[in-house]
Amino acid sequence: MVTTPSRLTLQKLVSPRFSPQEAQELTQFLTETPKKIPPKYFYDDRGSQLFEAICLLPEYYLTKTEMELLTRVAPQLPHHTGACELVELGSGSSRKTHIILQAYQQQGLPLRYTPIDISSSILEISAYNLLQSYPRLEVHGIVGTYEEALAHLPLTQLPCRLIYFLGSSLGNLDRQQCAVFFQQVYQGLQRGDYFLLGVDLQKERAILEAAYNDSQGVTAAFNLNILSHLNCRFGGNFSLPNFRHIAIYNDREHQIEMYLQSLVSQAVYLQGLDLHLSLAAGEKILTEISRKFNLRELQTELEDRGFRAVETWQDDRGWFGLLLVQKA
Ligand code: AVJ
Repeated sequence: MVTTPSRLTLQKLVSPRFSPQEAQELTQFLTETPKKIPPKYFYDDRGSQLFEAICLLPEYYLTKTEMELLTRVAPQLPHHTGACELVELGSGSSRKTHIILQAYQQQGLPLRYTPIDISSSILEISAYNLLQSYPRLEVHGIVGTYEEALAHLPLTQLPCRLIYFLGSSLGNLDRQQCAVFFQQVYQGLQRGDYFLLGVDLQKERAILEAAYNDSQGVTAAFNLNILSHLNCRFGGNFSLPNFRHIAIYNDREHQIEMYLQSLVSQAVYLQGLDLHLSLAAGEKILTEISRKFNLRELQTELEDRGFRAVETWQDDRGWFGLLLVQKA
């Protein structure tokens, strides 16, 4: 099937070269105690591929559980929203979008999809694939961070928007970042627009820790790849064999914490930041938090921020939740 080029537009908000703000932000993270790296740096092209591999791991129940739940829930979405533009934050491979698009297609509604992702290659590949499968689909992709993209959403011709943020990516944000993010989403929406969240729920430690310490070492490779990305993007000289992957559940904070632990005492230099780092043997760099939620609490928080709760769903085991809200 031939794809009409006009059905796909791309808007790039990031350049391969880093901006002064990015450099400043990273410098700040790397000089805090403990040292941190923002998790968005996981997702260079290789990191995005490794994440796709994680989603297929037997221990990583999140994606499979969410897909099953979404398959059950998606047919209800068009009944709530009617015709709307589908905006996906952190679209990655867009696999979940197939399920949602099918539901809107079955109702004979217009199909307009705005994927937003930090990785342009994965965004372009998945957009082409979707265009092949849905002849009536129009795609407007935005390459950038959520903050940038939410502030630059082009006006939609459809009656409303459904912004969705799945895969428990929300878990990467601490409470304060989460509050800022909800405000950005709120501002990106018009009254009556919808916001769908998919979140991993609180559960037993053993299940959680297994999901982030898989037996094939894919999560470890994903974690370590963040250093390759920094080397490449910021002219760093991190030596990957000098670090090991750690993931532990902090049950007080209800979050998985991923670290890269320095195995030796070492110095690292990032030319692009003109930053010298020294790491003690055993020192840990925090690369990710992955919060685990309580659906009711999350709903209350969104209500406190001006959203109206429409419906919540969870799978039979109560492991994963979906939450649909509307801008009041
Ligand atoms: C994409 C943030 C949802 O926290 O589970 C997977 C990323 N990190 N394995 C998660 C991740 C390690 C993932 N999120």
